Amino acid sequence: MSRHADLAQQAQAVLRGNDAGAFTKPGPHQYPHQWNWDSALIALGLSHFDLPRGLAEIRALLSGQWRDGMVPHVVYHTTPSDYFPGPAFWQIEGSPYAPGVATSGITQPPLLATVVRLIHARTPIPAFVAEVYGPLLAWHRWLHTARDADGTGLACLIHPWESGTDDSPRWLAALANITPTDVPIYRRRDTRHVAAAERPLEADYDRFIHLIDVFRKHRYDPEALLARSPFLVQDVLFNSILYRADEDLRSLGLELGEPTEEIEGWLTQVRRSFDARFWDERSGLYFDYNLRAGQPIRVNTATAFLPLYAGLPDARQARRLVEEHLENPDEYAPDDKVRYRLTTTSRSEPAWDARRYWRGPVWIILNWLVSEGLRRYGYDDLAAALTRDSLALMAQAGFREYYDPRDGTGLGSTEFSWSAALALEFVTRN
Ligand code: GLC
Repeated sequence: MSRHADLAQQAQAVLRGNDAGAFTKPGPHQYPHQWNWDSALIALGLSHFDLPRGLAEIRALLSGQWRDGMVPHVVYHTTPSDYFPGPAFWQIEGSPYAPGVATSGITQPPLLATVVRLIHARTPIPAFVAEVYGPLLAWHRWLHTARDADGTGLACLIHPWESGTDDSPRWLAALANITPTDVPIYRRRDTRHVAAAERPLEADYDRFIHLIDVFRKHRYDPEALLARSPFLVQDVLFNSILYRADEDLRSLGLELGEPTEEIEGWLTQVRRSFDARFWDERSGLYFDYNLRAGQPIRVNTATAFLPLYAGLPDARQARRLVEEHLENPDEYAPDDKVRYRLTTTSRSEPAWDARRYWRGPVWIILNWLVSEGLRRYGYDDLAAALTRDSLALMAQAGFREYYDPRDGTGLGSTEFSWSAALALEFVTRN
């Protein structure tokens, strides 16, 4: 701990600095509202030094929960900002399920139940667990029903933003099939604080906005969206996070004396569907699935390692992921040009771009999720390498949103909250 005492101090200062009162901003300028999976990790970070503030973060996120259970990807609270899309753009008042506060109309990876269990395991918070259990269960139920397009129990996504990996090359083919008609007039704001070369491309952005327009025209009716959304995919990262969160929710439920058969049903169903839908025996990778095209999305990105975090692969699958991919210098292993783990996209992909957002850079969140998975399977040395690289990047370049894997240059937002929060996790793990 002492070796990293300065970094831990600085991480706390970043989380304090981004505290907007009711919630914590993911970044001071670029992201002025509350984001779903960011705030789960922020709560985890805060729990190291200010548990009540961490729990308040979770309550603030859940205050945006929709009446049908969805926890939205952004809660706007009352903060005015120049962020686009702002609260008015979503037109959520068209939905009978919209909450009383301003939010977006889509969701994000459900890390929250896992975070609640992690915090509770360190410092028991039984009253808080009892308070949030119902809302968490309602969210998971919504994901396994309103977002189950084919009876597999796997959740599907209707917008790349729901994956948390907005411009990942996994979405390129699906987006290319969408013709963005009648795109509402909008002005992008995300390139005001960060160089355009590090952000999603213009053509992607038009499609992102077109999709929202489709959703609001359908008043966010879940059935209509499954039937009509031009983008409909099942994502390995999202479903791995959900599976692990279901396990954590079940454990919290058992402790509370709640019936857990429903959750066990989801776990069984997803365990049965996961490999059939995602595992590709030929390449030894997990691929997302494009439900609109009826075919796998054969793009090699680091999200293929996420099932390790959920404990879903068997030992042989885990070995293939590690030996044929994670340790492969043509894909993810460091070499004399790429010094830091873990690039978000394999270097063997044509879309690989060392500085552009989810197309190549190192993201601390993926390093943390993948290293948790590696530890689960006994790859402790590799997990330690990811920890080491993450701490080195943050110590050299600060708590940035992402990093150039070649030389460690910090990119995107500065003072990025989840990087700071996860620094506290990595430091205490050491
Ligand atoms: C970007 C990221 C997403 C994150 C958000 C706020 O949209 O892709 O994962 O939640 O920024 O940090």
